[in-house]
Amino acid sequence: MRLSERIRYVGVNDNQTELFERQWPLPYGVSYNSYLVVDEKVALIDTAAAQFADEFFANIKSEIGDRPIDYLIVNHMEPDHSALQAAVRREYPACQIVTNAKAVPMIEGYQGIIDNIKVIKEGESLSLGEVSLQFFMVPMVHWPETMVTWSTEENTLFSGDAFGSFKAAPADVIDSKSSTFADYQDEMTRYYASIVGKYGSPVQAALKKLNGLEIKRICSTHGPVWEQSISQVVALYDRLSRYDADRGVCLAYGSMYGNTERAALELAEAIKAKGIPCAVHNLTEEDYSFALRDVFKYDTVILGSPTYNNGIFPPVRQLMQGICDRMVKGRRFLAFGSFTWAAASVKLLNEMAAAAGFEILSEGITFRQGYSKSKFDAEAIASLL
Ligand code: FEO
Repeated sequence: MRLSERIRYVGVNDNQTELFERQWPLPYGVSYNSYLVVDEKVALIDTAAAQFADEFFANIKSEIGDRPIDYLIVNHMEPDHSALQAAVRREYPACQIVTNAKAVPMIEGYQGIIDNIKVIKEGESLSLGEVSLQFFMVPMVHWPETMVTWSTEENTLFSGDAFGSFKAAPADVIDSKSSTFADYQDEMTRYYASIVGKYGSPVQAALKKLNGLEIKRICSTHGPVWEQSISQVVALYDRLSRYDADRGVCLAYGSMYGNTERAALELAEAIKAKGIPCAVHNLTEEDYSFALRDVFKYDTVILGSPTYNNGIFPPVRQLMQGICDRMVKGRRFLAFGSFTWAAASVKLLNEMAAAAGFEILSEGITFRQGYSKSKFDAEAIASLL
C-alpha cells in the first residue's frame, strides 16, 4: 500500500490473537506495521509477528516484485517486530541489517544472526538514493535498544512503538475521516499505560529530541499511520509521559459477594451527581489494563477491595501493583472496602498509595460484613473530592 511514491506499508492486521504479550486483551485486534522505503536502494523498516510470515512477504512482493531488499532497519527488537528477521535474511540473503550497538546481541540472541550488520550511531544517516534515513536513539521507549528512523525528504518518522496503539489499523492504514484520532484515543492510551507507562522520563527525553523535526507523517509499529492527527498524537504522548491527567475519577473495585460492589456503585453515582467524570471498572470481570488506562486519564484513583487473606483482594492488588510499577505520579487516592472479622485491605492500599506519593483523601473507609447505607455514606465520601 502506497503512503507516498517511495514509502509503502507492508504490515499486517492481527484479529486472531486474544492477548498481546500473552497478557493484554485485544478486543479490537492489533497491527504489526512494517514499511518499505523504495529508492535506488530498498530499505525495510522492522518486520512483523512470526505467524504472519506469508502475508508479510506477499505484501512486500506486491510492492517491489522481485527487487531485492538492500537494508533491514531494526528500530526495536521485541519479537512482535523482530520475529521475521531471519526469514527476511533467507529470502534476501544480501540484505544488510542496520541498527544500533545495543540491538546487535539481541539480534543474535533472538534470531541467531551475527553477520552483515551495519552498526549506526546517534544522528548517523544512510542514503538510499534520493531519500536518506537518519537514526536517533530513544532508549527505554520501551526497551534499551529502541531507536527511531527519520526521513527528512519525506518528513516521515518511523517511530517504533512510540505513538502506537492497540486496535487494528484501518483499511486504508492512514488516519482519516473514517478512522480518526478519537477512534483510537482509548486504545492508544491503554497501549501506552500497559506497555510504555513505566517509562515516562525516557518518553519525555525522546519527545525533546524529536522536537525540531517537521513531522508530516508518523509511521508507528502499531495502529494507524498518523498524518491528520500528528499534533493530537504528540500532545497525548506528552501528557501521558508527564502523568498529567484530567479532572475525574478512575473507580475500580473487586468484590466476592457484592458488598464492596454495592458500595462502589453507590459511590460512583454520588461522584457523577457532583458532575465529576467517573469511570467504573469491575476488576473481577475485566482485565486491569482498562482501569490502568483510566488511571493515566484521570487525576483521582479510588479502589474498592474487601479484605482477603488479611490483605488486598488479588484483582485489586494486581491493579495497585501495576500503578506502582509504572511509577504513576500526582494522583489523589481513596480506598474503601468491606471486611468480615479484621480490616486490612484499605490500610494496605493506603500504604502503597502513600509510598507512590499520592495524596490520601481519607483513611479507613471500611465497613464490617454486609453493605448498608448507614455503614457507607457515599455522598459524604464523594464530598471529599
Ligand atoms: Fe511492539 Fe515493544 O513491541
